[in-house]
Amino acid sequence: MSASAAIEVRDVSKRFRIWREKPTSLKQRLLAGRSRAEDFWALRDVTFDVPSGSSFGLIGHNGSGKTTLLKVIAGILRPTTGSVRQRGRLAALLELGAGFHPELTGRENVYLNASFLGMSRRETDRVYDDIVGFAELEGFMETAVKFYSSGMLVRLGFAVAVHVDPDVLLVDEVLAVGDEAFQARCIERVQRFQREGRTIVLVTHALDQVRQLCDLAVMLDHGRVRAAGAPDDVVRDMRMAILRQDLAFAHEEGSKEVEIDSAALLVGDDPLGGPLAPGDVLTIQVDLRANEPVDDPVVSFALHDAANRFVVGGDTASSGVPLGRLEGKRRVRFHVGPLPFVAGRYWVTIGVHSRDNRHAYHVQDQRYAFSVESAEGGREQVFVPVRAEVSDP
Ligand SMILES: Nc1ncnc2c1ncn2[C@@H]1O[C@H](COP(=O)(O)OP(=O)(O)O)[C@@H](O)[C@H]1O
Ligand SMILES: [Mg+2]
Repeated sequence: MSASAAIEVRDVSKRFRIWREKPTSLKQRLLAGRSRAEDFWALRDVTFDVPSGSSFGLIGHNGSGKTTLLKVIAGILRPTTGSVRQRGRLAALLELGAGFHPELTGRENVYLNASFLGMSRRETDRVYDDIVGFAELEGFMETAVKFYSSGMLVRLGFAVAVHVDPDVLLVDEVLAVGDEAFQARCIERVQRFQREGRTIVLVTHALDQVRQLCDLAVMLDHGRVRAAGAPDDVVRDMRMAILRQDLAFAHEEGSKEVEIDSAALLVGDDPLGGPLAPGDVLTIQVDLRANEPVDDPVVSFALHDAANRFVVGGDTASSGVPLGRLEGKRRVRFHVGPLPFVAGRYWVTIGVHSRDNRHAYHVQDQRYAFSVESAEGGREQVFVPVRAEVSDP
């Protein structure tokens, strides 16, 4: 293994076997015969190095294989083919509560976890108070973690991971959980690790975080490396890919478990009266109605110009505003701009789909339109900042 690499991933593929057991009634089951196994490749020929001391961002759509890859690096999953080599003590913060035993107390879990990571009891004694303090769980350490909220679990997991003196830290999407103060402390800790020359692999939906924190990035797309290199470039490719996915389902009608009740284009809080001027912020307001409870739907939008060229898009998941379990009504607003668009007419596509983007609940393809009056500098394609918010209508 090369001296400069903390992690070497070589031609890694990972196959899952999925058992199809759809038929429910006895008759169906008899007709269907034995349940079938299907192969699914969550990772395909993945190769890259994580240089020692670097901060490495791993991005990609939901289901692209990020968590699977982290588990392979952490040695929790064995690759079907290929190999991973890694040097130094590795601490991984993978998913909510992973590595915690629900029946054990917070204190017992800290000692258990630390021992898995190669810490002796005495070493753990020394950092125990810091762990509790960082997690802000004073008063809860004698409680079984099954009574913890998700925020408490994340805080404890992160606190343990950063206090076991790891050479390599893997972090899967947890920086998006917890309150802002805790997130800020996590980021501060990641930055301290960077200064100390430790290696960090960060999976996140917050693309700007990747640009700010990472030296290198890789984008996975359906289990394959789609882009690798400087974070700015990889993030740009990711944003392009998000847009293309929007287009991929643009012609579907959707199954309507969640419907777009209504949508409106606003400036500030006012309906759009006339053309927009360059520099305006366009608000796309989407009122949703769930006809049945749906977990984690994602709302996305795309703007196309009059020549049907994609201009900008975004979605609630990549904007970091998950909808959670949707029951009844919900309002989503995308604030798009300031708009550096060229003058002309633009079309808005709005969609609601499943988190993995495979299932469209409702898509309104280029149903809404607006105009821009005039603009300086007619750039061909621009990226516009997008902020999303969710509230009751
Ligand atoms: N244990 C498993 N068995 C079958 N399929 C799995 C398993 N774990 C993950 N997958 C599938 O592999 C794909 C990649 O999943 P994952 O690595 O969790 O993606 P990401 O973290 O990028 O969202 C998904 O389609 C997921 O459904
Ligand atoms: Mg994941």
